[in-house]
Amino acid sequence: MAVERILVVGKEQRTHALARSHSKQLFAADDTQDLWQLLDSADPHLILIDMNTPHEQLCDLLRRRADKAVRTPVVVIDHEDACVEPETLLDLGACDILKGAEDYPRLAEIIEQLCKGTPDQEPVDRNFFAEECPSCVSIVGKSAATAKTLRMVRLVAGSSCNPVLIVGETGTGKELVARAVHILRHGAEKKFVAVNCAALTANLLESELFGHVKGSFTSADREKTGLLELAGSGSIFLDEISEMPRDLQAKLLRVLQEKTFRKVGGIKDITCKATIIASSNRNLLEEVDKEKFRRDLYYRLSICPIYLAPLRHESRKDDILLLADYFIQNTDICPEKKGKIRGLTKLAAEDLTRHHWPGNVRELKNVIERAVLLEASDKIGLANLIIHPDECHMACAPPALTRIKDFSLERAEKELVAKALTEAGWQKTRAAALLGITRATLYAKVKQYNIQEPQRHQDPVIV
Ligand SMILES: Nc1ncnc2c1ncn2[C@@H]1O[C@H](COP(=O)(O)OP(=O)(O)OP(=O)(O)O)[C@@H](O)[C@H]1O
Ligand SMILES: [Mg+2]
Repeated sequence: MAVERILVVGKEQRTHALARSHSKQLFAADDTQDLWQLLDSADPHLILIDMNTPHEQLCDLLRRRADKAVRTPVVVIDHEDACVEPETLLDLGACDILKGAEDYPRLAEIIEQLCKGTPDQEPVDRNFFAEECPSCVSIVGKSAATAKTLRMVRLVAGSSCNPVLIVGETGTGKELVARAVHILRHGAEKKFVAVNCAALTANLLESELFGHVKGSFTSADREKTGLLELAGSGSIFLDEISEMPRDLQAKLLRVLQEKTFRKVGGIKDITCKATIIASSNRNLLEEVDKEKFRRDLYYRLSICPIYLAPLRHESRKDDILLLADYFIQNTDICPEKKGKIRGLTKLAAEDLTRHHWPGNVRELKNVIERAVLLEASDKIGLANLIIHPDECHMACAPPALTRIKDFSLERAEKELVAKALTEAGWQKTRAAALLGITRATLYAKVKQYNIQEPQRHQDPVIV
């Protein structure tokens, strides 16, 4: 999207001047009422509004914009840097607030970010994001721990710190944060290449990272470009760095120090321009003590590490219900239910905050998606909040289904469709009603999962 048409609300000359310097076409609305009349005909890419507009009118504009699902971003200009409650405006959906004349240059950055976004992006609900969270990344959470992480993300991304280390338990959001650092530093159009150091053998990982020349080993029948080169001037994400074999760690250290590397079997030095982002769910210092991780590499990596607190940690507990709501609203697990489930019952919410979340945000996301799938009412209750599916399954699944060891959501959906069909005596309209989906979707799911109508007195067959 290009930002060519800017609509200014109000008569403040400084706002007009700012808009003029960033747009090809300028539209002016005298006040917020005027704006609604102009919006359709002008079809602006951006709305600039002055902080001097009466506060109620400003809030009203943002609320009406959300109600009407208007996607045009609104930037508020606070020329005097006098605004008292910027959070309210951001919460109501303002894209950003420029504070004082020294903040004017940031409009160029905001416009650049808007240009990078796709035109079909969903309007962002700022309720889920902390003030520190830049609008181009979707890191949900407002807890003290998340705010601290976000501050660090901005600081590191805005610096030339390379390598960047991200540390946190499994499922805490390390890859999400790695992508955020990448987007903030390089923009979304630059390459972000990821490699999981635990997933490949030492030789494969080496040639994956560095590439190889033809004939450098038996199966090297052609030259290969490594990920360090493929990343260009973007980022390379070395996931689970603690699992990297020690001799490869030495080679990586050389890349970090020299900023050059050679392909396996090659003699030419290749410059590495990429930001190297590494993640670990292990305590790297402990790995150093166990002699599994090189001490020199550890020190080289941990210049400015970004830590992610576990979800159970006191400083992050405030994120649990926010994340749960975010996943309820944004999951695609059951498109028919989109927007129909409004939240959690009080008991369900209490249960979520009590749980210890060893799998952190990933576990929470799975629990919510499972609940959305199972829930037939407009609020997720305790009954469908299955935190330990294995235990629940052992306790209450019918005999024919206890054979199923796989608790993926897909499997859960199959089971649920089969259950509903049994319950409805294979009357498709009733089964569809029980599931809260259309008959057509039910037919599609029966076909997709190959669920066959059983002979009498048998459970449905799940293939
Ligand atoms: N703060 C957050 N806001 C929204 N979604 C999140 C957040 N943190 C994590 N997630 C989601 O949780 C899931 C796990 O996150 P991610 O893959 O980044 O975790 P990880 O720390 O890399 O896990 P692992 O160590 O197992 O690789 C992803 O679907 C991610 O989008
Ligand atoms: Mg990960």
